[in-house]
Amino acid sequence: MIKVKVNGEERSWDGDPSLPLLWFLRDELGLVGTKFGCGQALCGACTVHVAGTAARSCITAVSDVDGQEVVTIEGLHPQGDHPVQKAWRELNVPQCGFCQAGQIMQAASLLAETKNPSDDEIRGGMAGNICRCGCYQRIEAAVRVAATGT
Ligand code: FES
Ligand code: FES
Repeated sequence: MIKVKVNGEERSWDGDPSLPLLWFLRDELGLVGTKFGCGQALCGACTVHVAGTAARSCITAVSDVDGQEVVTIEGLHPQGDHPVQKAWRELNVPQCGFCQAGQIMQAASLLAETKNPSDDEIRGGMAGNICRCGCYQRIEAAVRVAATGT
């Protein structure tokens, strides 16, 4: 039996241990904020936090998070007021929105590791998160704004 804490709640799974965390979150727990993009760790749409660090849930097996703590976009802040979420609203970052949960989770992880990142560090930290709408300038600007609130 796999046990994992998701957004502060103890969850368990006794099915296929190789099930991707993405599908455990979406299909078993109904946490559909985390998106499926490529399924191959190439786009970042499925980004969640595992033990406080950004991870691609499409290539993470449920067995890999046994005993760990997972946070999804739904659990990042109880009222949606994490500094990254506030900055995203302030700068109206999303266009279609599909990539945005992943972008926000990646940005939150980046700022947890690097409080005041340089422009290069922001670009490097966010480089694996693809936005088909091309919101990159607003994403970078919002990470800069969020850095002042973390
Ligand atoms: S769906 Fe996981 S990185 Fe694209
Ligand atoms: S806002 Fe549409 S893919 Fe990023």
